[in-house]
Amino acid sequence: MLKLKKAEKIVIVGAGDHARVVLDIYRELDQLKSIVGFIDVFDNPAMKDAEIEDFPVLGGTSALAGLLKKKVKTAIVCIGKNRDREKLVTEITAMGFTLVSAIHPSATISKKAEIGPGCMICAGSIVVTNAKLGTSVILNTGASVDHNCIISDFAQIAPGVRLAGRVNIGKGAMIGIGSSIKQGSTIGEYVTVGSGAAVVKDIPNNMTVVGVPAISKQEWEQQIEFLRTQGRNTLPQQQPQQAPPPQPQYSNNKPQDSQQDRQDRPYNKKPYKYYNKNNRYRTSGGYYEPKDRPQNGGYESSSPDTDRKRKDD
Ligand SMILES: CC(C)(COP(=O)(O)OP(=O)(O)OC[C@H]1O[C@@H](n2cnc3c(N)ncnc32)[C@H](O)[C@@H]1OP(=O)(O)O)[C@@H](O)C(=O)NCCC(=O)NCCS
Repeated sequence: MLKLKKAEKIVIVGAGDHARVVLDIYRELDQLKSIVGFIDVFDNPAMKDAEIEDFPVLGGTSALAGLLKKKVKTAIVCIGKNRDREKLVTEITAMGFTLVSAIHPSATISKKAEIGPGCMICAGSIVVTNAKLGTSVILNTGASVDHNCIISDFAQIAPGVRLAGRVNIGKGAMIGIGSSIKQGSTIGEYVTVGSGAAVVKDIPNNMTVVGVPAISKQEWEQQIEFLRTQGRNTLPQQQPQQAPPPQPQYSNNKPQDSQQDRQDRPYNKKPYKYYNKNNRYRTSGGYYEPKDRPQNGGYESSSPDTDRKRKDD
């Protein structure tokens, strides 16, 4: 829960989407009475004398000195670009402003976690035990930061990001929407992790990585270009097809019968037909009516054995 000193007045530095999200957090915290207005850091003429949700845009960064004189000494910098936010935070703290954080009441923050000044922690995000967030870190909607993670100053974790335990995020890094980072990984300073990426190893400073598993964007583009030249629009199979595992041999350890042996088995011999006195003939399957009465004395045979059997009868 945000703890403000009595009658503490806050200026929101920024007048874009992030600033509106922070205003909404203060609304949820029932702290709107503390907000004095917005600073349009881009000095956009269209924003002069404008209002954002009934709160005045007080001017550009030049208006900050006047605010200090009016005893408005607390600020939160709400700029999405990490390097711009870093620059502004450095400037306004040098002027004498104190940074305040905005933590949405629906965020779940461990009592053992440390949250630095000027952080923006959005709805539904989770910070697990022993995690540490530096100065002016943005934790967007539904991001989760697991145990013992360290998120350095001015880093930004986009919506739905999943950081496993003991992940180190470098200063000013941007972790793209929906990406996930394997436990224990170190992400360098000012790294950009593309949306949906799965980072499974350490990433050096200033690199942009994309994909699953994440590789440098340059390497990714080379792979895509290669596929285009091949007339394909999907990635090739990364792993070569493996031979199927050997099937268990079911054997009773007897020597295998030869083809001839199998043919000589009695049940593989052609059935003989034998006509009995009722003018029906039998095969190995039973009695059948003859279609044509045979001419050879009432029986027909398909093997010499049958003839022998007839004589025996
Ligand atoms: C990775 C990223 C930084 C690249 O931005 P970019 O340099 O402007 O790149 P582009 O958008 O021009 O895309 C260049 C190529 O990379 C591909 N690409 C971009 N992002 C990608 C990603 N995350 N995964 C895979 N490929 C990606 C594009 O499809 C494009 O390929 P193409 O030339 O074949 O069409 C960006 O796409 C990104 O993911 N940013 C994170 C955004 C985010 O999370 N915002 C949340 C704000 S709260």
